[in-house]
Amino acid sequence: MMSDFLRVEGISKTYENGVVANTDISFNVRQGEMHAICGENGAGKSTLMKMLYGMVKPTSGEIYYKGDKLDLDSPKEAIELGIGMVHQEFMLVPSFTVAENITLGADVLKGGFLDKEDAVRVANALAETYNFDIDAEATVESIPVGMRQRVEILKALYRGADLLILDEPTAVLTPQESEELFASLKKLVRELNKSVIFITHKLKEVKFASDKITVIQHGKVTGNFDTDSVSVDEIANKMVGREVENSYYRKPQELGGKALEIKSLNYKDAAGIQRLNNLTLDIYEGEVLGIAGVEGNGQTELARLISGLDKPTSGDIELYGQQIQGKTPHQIRDLKIAHVSEDRKGDGTAGDASIRDNVLVDRYHQKNFGDMGLLKMGVIKDHLSHLIDRFDIRCKSQETAIGSLSGGNMQKVVIAREISSEPKVLIAAQPTRGVDIGAAELIRNELIKLRDNKKGVLLLSADLDEILSISDRIAVIYKGEIVGVFKNENIDEKTLGLYMLGLKRQSEHE
Ligand SMILES: Nc1ncnc2c1ncn2[C@@H]1O[C@H](COP(=O)(O)OP(=O)(O)OP(=O)(O)O)[C@@H](O)[C@H]1O
Ligand SMILES: [Mg+2]
Repeated sequence: MMSDFLRVEGISKTYENGVVANTDISFNVRQGEMHAICGENGAGKSTLMKMLYGMVKPTSGEIYYKGDKLDLDSPKEAIELGIGMVHQEFMLVPSFTVAENITLGADVLKGGFLDKEDAVRVANALAETYNFDIDAEATVESIPVGMRQRVEILKALYRGADLLILDEPTAVLTPQESEELFASLKKLVRELNKSVIFITHKLKEVKFASDKITVIQHGKVTGNFDTDSVSVDEIANKMVGREVENSYYRKPQELGGKALEIKSLNYKDAAGIQRLNNLTLDIYEGEVLGIAGVEGNGQTELARLISGLDKPTSGDIELYGQQIQGKTPHQIRDLKIAHVSEDRKGDGTAGDASIRDNVLVDRYHQKNFGDMGLLKMGVIKDHLSHLIDRFDIRCKSQETAIGSLSGGNMQKVVIAREISSEPKVLIAAQPTRGVDIGAAELIRNELIKLRDNKKGVLLLSADLDEILSISDRIAVIYKGEIVGVFKNENIDEKTLGLYMLGLKRQSEHE
């Protein structure tokens, strides 16, 4: 069928280190189609997309695009042919404005540099054509992630993309933002006849937004479907090869003593904006305390203050009565407060270092791993293989650089490191972001296990289903303030929504 817009035929990829990421992959995408790619972490989805975008060279196989055989040596060539890609991790220049980021570099191709005003004009016109809401004059570092996403997409469209590839576009978006994104994408596809390929682990989105689905498992296609003909459960089954429960059992238990006390915390950021407002909250032993809130209401700041990455303007944080304020992140970690950061690439990991070093670097000095300055390599390696097993980290070996892992597997390394540090309190910020449904289930069960062992878990998640499925209590944060605290069984999603939007608040907390 030469009429196909995009035709992938028997593509395989083996990386230089011997990892076979794709084997004999074939699928088609028509013009005006939304095509979802599903598969577990490490299945080979990003690799496949990078080959369509000229970032990775196929080892064998062929790709046809608009009737011609593709032989790409760089993303630049892909862009010239009308293929655009938005990556799992964004690639904008933070200090430049939205307008500059959109037009950057491409203006030269179009016959000359744009000045600032022209760039703003172009960006606004583009935003209007494609129905994306942006603030053209703001710097990228000052805008929320949802808008950054739209900027990335507009950037690709400005470069004339007819095929838009989105690698986990909604991983960092709130449910509301995701809905808006898909509405805009649907328009691109339906009205402008563009084609979109997107990767997501959220199967509800796949069902809601795509026309066709390709499922990949261990680098091979295990299914090609019309979306209308399959259920969410069937997709999950094809991906993981087993049923995924997604219901969680928490052993009934009485709350223990207070593990972490947060007292009247105030925080003004560098720009002078009040991000936390007299925030008071207790985390007890043996509970998962979920923080529900629309993103950007102080969740990130709260996690960073507790883990010592930022300093509060005023207020106290105490771990079992001991003040932790003023201590460094390292000291706080030693006191057994662990932190799964939502920014796994920034403060979460060191890309060039091995999985082993990423997990253990701050623990090599511990007695069980070293003896008078000599590392017990055997013990260390055993410990690591045990963790790789337990957290289902898909990797070649524990010496593999964490930067060459798939996105979800990188996240699993961070989780493994934090949970295996045997914390008294774990701050888990977006712990299942970018991980597949099977791994998400595993991680949630690990959080529950901590709770069952009388540890305190503070769960910050943009996924309300996640909060509701594993929290014992739920606190709602709104404009940097806790506006309500509930036992899970006493609250439903709708009512939570009212608190999250600031339409309701408790006068007195329990
Ligand atoms: N640059 C690289 N060098 C070596 N191996 C790599 C490289 N990039 C990816 N891999 C390996 O290729 C396999 C497929 O990775 P890929 O990133 O394509 O997975 P993915 O399906 O996108 O997973 P995720 O859902 O976690 O993002 C993995 O085993 C990964 O470790
Ligand atoms: Mg990926």
